[in-house]
Amino acid sequence: MLRPDTLHRYEPPSFAKNFFDEGAMPTHRLRLANLPTPVHRVIGGAQDGILARLKELNIKLYIKRDDATGGAELGGNKVRKLEMLMCDAIAKRCDSVVTIGGEQSNHCRATAAASRMMNLSPHLILRTRRADAIERNDEGMGYTGNVLFDRMVGSTIYTCTPGEYGRLGSNTLVGSVCDHLESNGFNPNAIPVGGSNALGTWGYISAVEELMHQLETIQSDDSDFNFGHVVFATGSGGTAAGIALGLSLAHGADAHPAAEGKEAPTCHGIGVCDSPDYFYTTIASIADAMGLKKMSHSSTEDFIRSIIKVHHGKGRGYAVSSDEELRFISQFAVDTGICLDPVYSGKALYHFMTKVLEEEPEKYRGQKILFWHTGGALGTYEKGNDLLKSTSSSGSKVKRIDCFGKSDSGDTVVCKQET
Ligand SMILES: Cc1ncc(COP(=O)(O)O)c(C=O)c1O
Repeated sequence: MLRPDTLHRYEPPSFAKNFFDEGAMPTHRLRLANLPTPVHRVIGGAQDGILARLKELNIKLYIKRDDATGGAELGGNKVRKLEMLMCDAIAKRCDSVVTIGGEQSNHCRATAAASRMMNLSPHLILRTRRADAIERNDEGMGYTGNVLFDRMVGSTIYTCTPGEYGRLGSNTLVGSVCDHLESNGFNPNAIPVGGSNALGTWGYISAVEELMHQLETIQSDDSDFNFGHVVFATGSGGTAAGIALGLSLAHGADAHPAAEGKEAPTCHGIGVCDSPDYFYTTIASIADAMGLKKMSHSSTEDFIRSIIKVHHGKGRGYAVSSDEELRFISQFAVDTGICLDPVYSGKALYHFMTKVLEEEPEKYRGQKILFWHTGGALGTYEKGNDLLKSTSSSGSKVKRIDCFGKSDSGDTVVCKQET
């Protein structure tokens, strides 16, 4: 078990320090994630696959593997925020953590695991259409994907329906569970949906510093190297806030050495659940809560709109996949060996490559594009059947080995017995 004495002093990146109120910056963090996560050039095989279009436009696609921040329990983007948020819980001497998300929430799973690592008890509110059926015992909570891990680490799970969630709001629901725990003698720490508040967002400001160091290394071989575009999924807004603010400030007045004389890449947040306007407002309120000092814009939201373009990538709905999205995810896995998830990373890259890119292909010609993979693999389990259906033309075959040497079909592997 990790101990509270594993708190580390947190040093905000020098490119960001002067732009936030000092008192609002974190002073400590935990180290839970495997960092730095690698940046890979995506090189694929198939001639007519997804990457063929990129080749036509002479686009080089890179991927930042935040799906590799941890093992199955902690992996994905959330652990970067949890390094800050769990540190806060420890500093406040909490004994439990309460958070909230969808039934297959990656954030809830990572928070539950991180809580146990720090010897705190996890309480998760999961939004599910099955809430009433589960309560009546018509069906159980089950063990699929993230829920399996939530339960393996012994989380207490509370359910609510999407309607209740919409009516009451996530903060009220978290507050109610905290009140209940307090009245039973516990000292809980509330973590908002997605870990997307001012404190958690520092995890992604620091992720940008990590990327800038990686750029420096690449630039030692190719001094002109720079990303023209950075693309990622946006759900509760904290990752987008951290990446957009971080990249803008890293290329600003106190520029990171890797950014000197270079333009900031264009940030593309692909909204998977709400409208772009909602995200601009949400990101601006996170920036305000972080104590962002006044920029030369009339409002924080105007500034945010100038540093990130949010796209409407929800498609058929949050966590609802179209056949095209699933086919894209399957084909991308065949072409590259990289698995995207249907709710966030797959939906985001699908939307960027098939819609955003195709609207203005010339804008992207010859560019280097970084896709920030934010994880979510466990969410894939819930959609296993649909994904497999969509792989039937391109994907995996299953064959029986003939261990008795009976087959004479040239297509069958016949096992030769040693004599
Ligand atoms: C795998 C994955 N990718 C992306 C996101 C979006 O990140 P954020 O909530 O910070 O916008 C989430 C969570 O919502 C996620 O679980």
